[in-house]
Amino acid sequence: MSKSTKKKMNWNPELITFCCNWCSYAGADLAGVSRFQYPPNMRIVRVMCSGRVEPSFVLKALKDGADGVLITGCHIGDCHYISGNEFTKERFERLHKIIIKQLGINEKRVRLEWVSASEGKLFAELITDFTNDIKRLGPLKVF
Ligand code: FES
Repeated sequence: MSKSTKKKMNWNPELITFCCNWCSYAGADLAGVSRFQYPPNMRIVRVMCSGRVEPSFVLKALKDGADGVLITGCHIGDCHYISGNEFTKERFERLHKIIIKQLGINEKRVRLEWVSASEGKLFAELITDFTNDIKRLGPLKVF
């Protein structure tokens, strides 16, 4: 491992995770109750549905110092508002194109994942994986 890679791996990124109330937040809660370990440098913002996460929320989080943003919601077909997560998926694809093409932000910094209320272990693994991805990229320096 190179010296700069080691330096990046010791640095702790600031991460924001938007969790939908009904599945992902419950999955995060289950991860905590089950004592699954994951990096502590992530802040959760609870929203009623992943469809509530507007692109401006993600861009503001990045502008205000987040090094990465994770959006989580119910699996497709399980959204408590019927199709909120399908809307999220479409919107996320458009957001990614804007972020990648116009701002030059690495696509790994903004991620969309589905986590159910029973997937506490998956939630912990996801946060660990996301944190490691962002550590490899280093601090965000676009804004
Ligand atoms: Fe969870 Fe819509 S309520 S994604």
